Amino acid sequence: MCGGVNAAIAKALKLKDVWCLHELVHNEIVIRELKDLGFKFVDRIEDVPEGETVVFSAHGVSPAVRETAKARHLKVVDTTCPFVAKVHKAAKAFSDRGLPVVILGDPKHVEAKGIAGECGEWLHQIANLRESGELARISKGQKIGVVSQTTMNADEVARQVAELRTRYDVETMAEVCQATKERQDAVKRFCAGRRSEVGVLVLGSKTSSNSKRLAEVAAQNGAKAFLAGSLDEVKAIDFSGIGTLGVTSGASTPERFFMEAVKFLRNVPEHVAIIMDGNGRWATQRGKRRGEGHKAGAKTLGDVLNWCGDRGIKYLTVYAFSTENWKRPQEEVNGLMTLFARMLKSKEKDFMKNRVRFRMIGRRGDLSKKLLDTIVALEKKTAHFERQFLVAISYGGRAEIVDAVNAAIKKGEPLTEETFRNYLYAPDVPDPDLVIRTSGELRTSNFLLWETAYSEYYFTDVLWPDFSEAELDKAIESYAQRHRRKGGV
Ligand code: FPP
Repeated sequence: MCGGVNAAIAKALKLKDVWCLHELVHNEIVIRELKDLGFKFVDRIEDVPEGETVVFSAHGVSPAVRETAKARHLKVVDTTCPFVAKVHKAAKAFSDRGLPVVILGDPKHVEAKGIAGECGEWLHQIANLRESGELARISKGQKIGVVSQTTMNADEVARQVAELRTRYDVETMAEVCQATKERQDAVKRFCAGRRSEVGVLVLGSKTSSNSKRLAEVAAQNGAKAFLAGSLDEVKAIDFSGIGTLGVTSGASTPERFFMEAVKFLRNVPEHVAIIMDGNGRWATQRGKRRGEGHKAGAKTLGDVLNWCGDRGIKYLTVYAFSTENWKRPQEEVNGLMTLFARMLKSKEKDFMKNRVRFRMIGRRGDLSKKLLDTIVALEKKTAHFERQFLVAISYGGRAEIVDAVNAAIKKGEPLTEETFRNYLYAPDVPDPDLVIRTSGELRTSNFLLWETAYSEYYFTDVLWPDFSEAELDKAIESYAQRHRRKGGV
């Protein structure tokens, strides 16, 4: 979202059960949320009952509306975008000097109407100069003031100003706002030099001027343009024939929707599980102790967690220590337990900042009290976050199934596939979509036996400490190409 929209929403969110003149910003998701907070939207100031609080939208209002609000004793919360306010000021200044004012904008848009209210009788609202007969009212060579609605097509505005200059003595403050222009420039850069199978998807509402202009710029630059205001609309689009798709958004589109849409389009797995194998071999190849390999592996894990977050992956589960790993030399086991405790403590700040929920799966009774206390404290502290990081310690797929069966027997509950799930270590977490195993071993090693019944597998020869962002993308790309039939056709 642009600065003006963000500020308007921040102001509005402090209020409840108030009136709002016009949509606060032109985005249906934002409006739905405000309606849930008790916002009542009206298109005429006269429809706000006397003495009530009214919010003026980010698009601004005319002086006449301000006067009416005053006369009706309304308490006003003004969220007009500062850049729109600047255009109002310029239009008023031109008008006060007696200049005819040309507004390059959509006469039906509330922002253009608000600006028009500053200009007295010298108003000329022109959506498209060539089609407008209004210019005939101004004689050739006359001095005129030109302003623009802030969300127009920047190239069109420049072209129209140039056209006006051929006939009039033009003074101008006709610029689209920076957020609008930057996005239009980005779309042009994206389209430049690409062939015709390029598409641009603009995420934004059909009522949003800057979103519509983005789609227009995409089409003018040779792309097939799509506009979608919700995830359902994105899902309904037929993208056949499109090779490369660029995605952009209007300035009032919530980032959450943008992330959801990109995740859907890229076919990113929701849950990735990783068997982090090869730490020992990595260390041995370098003449180091195995513990050094685990330390390097822990560093890689921190990076992978961030990369998964960047890609919109909601759940990451990693296999850190199996029920069979207790058979390793005591020195290595102790080293790993110390490393787990240290890593978890050092990552606490990152989990809080990046809003990651930490959970352990495995046999808790096998762990030292000190390590378990660290784990439980971190689980409690992060329990409210949505994105999840699950670490399997003293974990075995068979052990999990046996533990689940025993818990069900204790309860005396007959099991079905659905009720069995309730006894797993993390019953609410969806099954992994993708399991990655590093170091070239082609087996599952007792990892998530129940949960991976229909998971996709990706094996790589790379040793875990060397697992890179590019390698993660290769795994995701491989997953995205697969057709998951899950037993169907
Ligand atoms: C398998 O490699 C790796 C492990 C058993 C340990 C994995 C642990 C980490 C990466 C640290 C993670 C830290 C936290 C807090 C989760 P291996 O030793 O079996 O390698 P090898 O097969 O080459 O011997």
